Amino acid sequence: MIHAPVMLAEVCAALDPKAGERMVDCTFGAGGYSQALLESAEIHLLGLDRDPTVKPHAEALAARFGDRFSFAQTPFSDLEAAIAAQNWDGVDGVVLDIGVSSMQIDNAERGFSFMRDGPLDMRMGDSGPSAADAVNTLDAAALVAIFRIFGEERGARRAAAAIVEARKEAPILTTGALAQLMASVLGKGWQKIHPATRVFQALRIYINDELGELGRALQAAERALRPGGRLVVVSFHSLEDRIVKQFFRLRAEAPSTGSRHIPVGDVAAFSPAFTLLGRKAVKPGADEVGTNPRARSARLRAGVRSETAPISTNDLDFPGIPDLGTVEAL
Ligand SMILES: C[S@@+](CC[C@H](N)C(=O)[O-])C[C@H]1O[C@@H](n2cnc3c(N)ncnc32)[C@H](O)[C@@H]1O
Repeated sequence: MIHAPVMLAEVCAALDPKAGERMVDCTFGAGGYSQALLESAEIHLLGLDRDPTVKPHAEALAARFGDRFSFAQTPFSDLEAAIAAQNWDGVDGVVLDIGVSSMQIDNAERGFSFMRDGPLDMRMGDSGPSAADAVNTLDAAALVAIFRIFGEERGARRAAAAIVEARKEAPILTTGALAQLMASVLGKGWQKIHPATRVFQALRIYINDELGELGRALQAAERALRPGGRLVVVSFHSLEDRIVKQFFRLRAEAPSTGSRHIPVGDVAAFSPAFTLLGRKAVKPGADEVGTNPRARSARLRAGVRSETAPISTNDLDFPGIPDLGTVEAL
């Protein structure tokens, strides 16, 4: 299936590109957003993606839009370095469309899908440990934490115990083997979704540090955006949307004077880094959900950057980012 850009009209409206502006599409994918933005105004656009397989799509846009478009293969948390490499001193728009693309899910070799047998990989980029490394080396407590926190899997203990038992016989190396094992321990009773869904989601988030990447990218975007610049984020599940919501709340809304945890001086001194474009997340229209089921869970949040000095480091304390506790690094 070709990747259909989700909430494209809403994204373009929120980014509102104007001639001469500079924008970054942090999740280039098949280039759906980038193409629409480049078509809608004479802007310069930098596309980022950690997945090297998106390069043919980037080459197609480079051939069409010349020096108005460039691409860098990098995690989006490195947004500021990528912008500096363009010799840009700031940008007017940043968009993130979080998650996996249909190209990644549909390719069995990438190991994202429990519906297609392939190597248990799940890396969006081309380096670092794979899901097979996690499943075959982490101890039971770490697996439980990952499945519970990133998958919200109620059978996390059973899932981890089954993995630890099974790998004594032979390493778990394929999506099919893991999906079957999860079906055997989590599949009792009627369920709306495949019993392996949450375990696969959890491993994918862990392997790609998806929530950490998102938290760092939001803070980097705050530093990179010029006053008046727009930050637009589309997310697909509640763990991500919670982080985006918390970020905008912390950076756009004065802390409540009623809170005994916040000194009065801090409330008076608060100056918002963003003005929110709408208080609530925007959802896709019924027509889009009807034609593209992947859009169903999409939520868009956006803000306009103010003159306020940005936070200087990636140390914003997000209540929304779950803590994995003592899980060792792979
Ligand atoms: C949902 S797709 C984006 C689709 C795109 N908006 C389009 O219209 O074609 C998400 C893309 O973001 C990339 N991605 C996810 N997390 C990333 C990260 N931390 N850094 C860079 N790219 C990332 C994935 O590799 C994938 O290609």
